[in-house]
Amino acid sequence: MRVLVTGGAGYIGSHTVVRLVEAGHEVQVVDDLSNSSPIVLDRIEEITGVRVPLDVVDVTDRGAVTAILAQHPVDAAIHLAGLKAVGESVEQPLRYYRTNLDATFSLVGAMADAGVRTLVFSSSATVYGAQASPPFEEDLPTSATNPYGWTKVMQEQVLRDVAAGDPRWRIALLRYFNPVGAHPSGRIGEDPQGHPNNLVPYLAQVAVGRREKLLVFGDDYDTPDGTGLRDYIHVEDLAAGHLAALETLAAADAGGVRTWNLGTGSGTSVLEVLAAFSRAAGRELPHEVVGRRAGDIAASWADPTRAHRELGWRAEKGIDEMCADTWRWQETNPAGYDGPPA
Ligand code: UD1
Repeated sequence: MRVLVTGGAGYIGSHTVVRLVEAGHEVQVVDDLSNSSPIVLDRIEEITGVRVPLDVVDVTDRGAVTAILAQHPVDAAIHLAGLKAVGESVEQPLRYYRTNLDATFSLVGAMADAGVRTLVFSSSATVYGAQASPPFEEDLPTSATNPYGWTKVMQEQVLRDVAAGDPRWRIALLRYFNPVGAHPSGRIGEDPQGHPNNLVPYLAQVAVGRREKLLVFGDDYDTPDGTGLRDYIHVEDLAAGHLAALETLAAADAGGVRTWNLGTGSGTSVLEVLAAFSRAAGRELPHEVVGRRAGDIAASWADPTRAHRELGWRAEKGIDEMCADTWRWQETNPAGYDGPPA
């Protein structure tokens, strides 16, 4: 297939592009590079031997997306472009609603005009909100605790309505749990700009000496060791999930929307991740327990049954491999793509 990948220079996008190319698909990346580097395309070429073309375009620019689809006809799109920092979304809600929703309106409109109606959408386990207790399965009601999360809830609803209005659409809503890890080559990985908000990127910066110690946000949760439980999933497994979803949609007898959790099905605590990362880095990483972070829930993990049954997909890599691969990437690229090599 010929596949447009929005946000294809980003963390999840770059790993997904590698997987698509390796499966023999022809990829076109659209990315405005607002939170990614063009060097990613060089690294993807190193890994795959294929130069993937990049259009530096903001997906909210519908005219530009229409022009890209006219110039490079595709069979399907994978839509990952969007803003994703929870704290920032609380401070700048209008920017988050406008950008994330506009990107989806623009892409879906341009696709319909071009007669392309197969779409894999990047959603999040954040749509399970705070009301339910894990494991989370796909039929639970959705909600959110911050504007970023609401943009995912809303984009899912928009896509369900689009498919209801025109049964030719084939749409996958992929709800990611907590993506971590990097390509085993160490050539691509997560490169957060500024202060990392998420646990594993933060630990990686502690391990490489860019941060003094991990702050553990609360050890008084109702969990076995008191720290938060999350379903960490290797980004390579996540990328394989995108490929499986795309190929399943393309082979389906009928249109419609399908929702799949991409998670491992088990929870790992903050202290367990700290221990795994310390093993990977070969030294005890310093930490200090501080108060809970506002908006955090105690525990989140997937019920991955549906993805296994319908996609024939399951996550295979464990937390040690996730930390070892993150560490290989961080150690060899201590300041990310644009900094000097180690
Ligand atoms: C966060 C977002 C979620 C988003 C997901 C992407 C929040 C509230 N939620 O989820 O919307 O979809 O990232 O992966 O930001 N922790 C520490 N110290 C740190 C960082 C994190 O103890 O410096 C703890 C947290 O309290 C939590 C766990 O580590 O228990 C995981 O945190 P994080 O990586 O930020 O992911 P989520 O909060 O699950």
